[in-house]
Amino acid sequence: MIARAKGEPVSIETIVIPDPGPGEAVVAIQACGVCHTDLHYREGGINDDFPFLLGHEAAGVVEAVGAGVTSVAPGDFVILNWRAVCGSCRSCLRGRPWYCFSTYNASQKMRLTDGTELSPALGIGAFADKTLVHSGQCTKVDPSAPAAAAGLLGCGVMAGLGAAINTGGVTRGDSVAVFGCGGVGDAAIAGAALAGAATIVAVDIDERKLEWAKGFGATHTCNSKDADPVEYIKSVTNGNGADVCIEAVGNPAVYRQAFEARDLAGTVVLVGVPRPDMTIELPFIEVFGRGGSLKSSWYGDCLPSRDFPMLIDLYRQGRLDLDGFVSETIALDQVEEAFHKMEQGDVLRSVVVL
Ligand SMILES: NC(=O)c1ccc[n+]([C@@H]2O[C@H](COP(=O)([O-])OP(=O)(O)OC[C@H]3O[C@@H](n4cnc5c(N)ncnc54)[C@H](O)[C@@H]3O)[C@@H](O)[C@H]2O)c1
Ligand SMILES: [Zn+2]
Ligand SMILES: [Zn+2]
Repeated sequence: MIARAKGEPVSIETIVIPDPGPGEAVVAIQACGVCHTDLHYREGGINDDFPFLLGHEAAGVVEAVGAGVTSVAPGDFVILNWRAVCGSCRSCLRGRPWYCFSTYNASQKMRLTDGTELSPALGIGAFADKTLVHSGQCTKVDPSAPAAAAGLLGCGVMAGLGAAINTGGVTRGDSVAVFGCGGVGDAAIAGAALAGAATIVAVDIDERKLEWAKGFGATHTCNSKDADPVEYIKSVTNGNGADVCIEAVGNPAVYRQAFEARDLAGTVVLVGVPRPDMTIELPFIEVFGRGGSLKSSWYGDCLPSRDFPMLIDLYRQGRLDLDGFVSETIALDQVEEAFHKMEQGDVLRSVVVL
């Protein structure tokens, strides 16, 4: 599924995939979720390197590997990740691999049949029967998990789960408030529930989203169109505010609500992605006086090799509802339609099954 030019509808094209070079793998894609970032690429919001091969929330089976690949082998069921941990950059060497910033993608190019180079979305490009990636982008997991559910860990669902568990450090008995209950926010709710949070408040402006949020573990809901979420969160936390407030919209006004709804020494986690022109203004004395921490969460501060197999095990045990994020499964030629549904807020995730 190719985005040829800014704003133009996506189209299905024949592509040419090179044999895997050293350290690389070709993966036969079984399922790939439709994420906002794919739409951002199509809209020219990421860069101008058209044509893009879209799709990056995927699971599939390794078909072939290049020289020197030992971590995966043909036949392995894998989830693809867009931030492979390189092990040798400054962040990795300082013991902070979730900040790894190496571009650890396949070095060879996939192309259109006329030879035009493709830019794979987030170095993956998985709205395709097969794709070429770096072997470090493949994480082997239990093959009994359905690909449509497993692939979601490759992006938004991992971002939300990790925002609660890894970045927010939610633990037993905590109170948690999640602002914005799309796929990412609902995953943060599921993560908070997994970690044992006692109170989980879902905040959104769409009543349908609040209803879905309850299914992932929200104990309370607040429609912030009708009520002040800060007052509401305080009212259900003995007047204190929540231990961990997670912003999953990427909106300065919502960030301010998260900041104000936080208990003394609590944590704010920003997982929603702001636009570059946005700024925030906060009462400086409150930044000081409330202590605690203001954090941001990239990809849920995940380590694919640590987190994907563990979360798939929890899914298989019935303790993590990944299926609940799959609003519909669709064919490759329905991606454009899925973009519209996403914009209308009609789905948590549409997942292409190949
Ligand atoms: N940090 C990361 O690594 C990472 C990864 C993936 C996505 N994201 C970001 O997370 C955010 C959420 O992604 P998503 O896929 O869940 O999107 P989404 O559009 O499905 O969900 C956003 C939700 O926010 C709600 N909302 C909008 N305005 C609101 C407001 N003023 N107050 C309360 N709720 C409001 C919407 O009704 C919707 O339910 C996006 O900014 C996305 O770019 C971050
Ligand atoms: Zn690194
Ligand atoms: Zn994504």
